[in-house]
Amino acid sequence: MKQNFTIRPFEYTDLDYAVGVKLVNQSWPNDPSTVEIWKHCYNNRNKDYMNRRFLGEIKQENATQIVAIGFCSESISSKKTGKYYIDFYIEQAFEKQGLDEPLYTYLVTALSDKKLRELQTGTREDNVHRIEFLQAQGFQQVMRSPSSELNVLGFDFAPFARYTEKVVASGIEIVTAQELQVRDANWMQKLYDLDMAIEQDMPSTNEFTPIGIDEFARNFKSHNIRTDAWFVAVDGEDYVGISSLWPNLVREDLFIVGTTGVLPSHRRRGIATALKLKTIAFVQAFGAGIIVTSNEENNPMYDLNLKLGFKPTPAWLTFEKSCKESTT
Ligand SMILES: CC(C)(COP(=O)(O)OP(=O)(O)OC[C@H]1O[C@@H](n2cnc3c(N)ncnc32)[C@H](O)[C@@H]1OP(=O)(O)O)[C@@H](O)C(=O)NCCC(=O)NCCS
Repeated sequence: MKQNFTIRPFEYTDLDYAVGVKLVNQSWPNDPSTVEIWKHCYNNRNKDYMNRRFLGEIKQENATQIVAIGFCSESISSKKTGKYYIDFYIEQAFEKQGLDEPLYTYLVTALSDKKLRELQTGTREDNVHRIEFLQAQGFQQVMRSPSSELNVLGFDFAPFARYTEKVVASGIEIVTAQELQVRDANWMQKLYDLDMAIEQDMPSTNEFTPIGIDEFARNFKSHNIRTDAWFVAVDGEDYVGISSLWPNLVREDLFIVGTTGVLPSHRRRGIATALKLKTIAFVQAFGAGIIVTSNEENNPMYDLNLKLGFKPTPAWLTFEKSCKESTT
């Protein structure tokens, strides 16, 4: 099979999009995407960051079948750190036919114009075949982030009421970003400052590099933004905590958690819990059923989610490998 396998750039045709989405959806049944969403994200992307895609094809007699998709991308810190991200998905029926090796080699070669010092990739912990492949290439696991999900129907708020009562009694208001957009002329700058302060405290394998406010503002042009599902804790004029949800546009019963965090000055006062309760009430009222999230396994946020009743599902594992510089 390997000898009939060739790799070519993704051509952004309807066919390439349709097959790419199908291949990735196979691995992400809990967060499915569509061609329209991929096109929107591609058109709305920040063109300062490299983002390359490739398709793997099997040629058999008169037909060619697309059976794999690979990605190479960089983040805001890649140019400084030399760390680049690769990822690939192979049609289930072809998964164990040795296509991972040529695809992986192709992706690494596609980065040869970069000062590559480190490769990062990831997989779910139930993908034993991929884990073994990555280990054989010299990758090491650097982070484990269990996913978890909560079915909000029938959620019992009573055991957590004291958190909300404490937050309200301390004079902190919980307001949606939609309301802030109306009542606070400086809402974007304040949300951006809050987000950056929280992001730098999140467990990560990447060095924190703040994005610009223009990049942050892209969130509000996203196809699936719902500012009425972003809950912000406000202390006087100051924004001190946030928990945001993103709807999945394919599965109406599904919301994905974006950022949850509280400024260090306001932690252990029940604010994160009160914010999460707001998100749960929102999803209940909206009629959708499931909230999905993912947290680094030692983050107190993970324990907090479990306490709220989130049920663990297979974790996402982050792998890294150091590389010799391939300079230009
Ligand atoms: C995790 C985080 C959101 C918690 O916010 P918070 O407002 O302090 O959380 P709460 O006050 O609602 O805590 C509720 C419960 O969670 C647990 N908890 C929260 N923070 C904890 C910590 N640092 N260590 C141990 N347990 C903790 C406790 O059981 C706490 O209840 P208690 O105070 O009655 O003991 C906050 O520490 C944070 O912003 N961290 C950085 C950003 C981040 O990692 N976000 C999650 C990204 S996935």
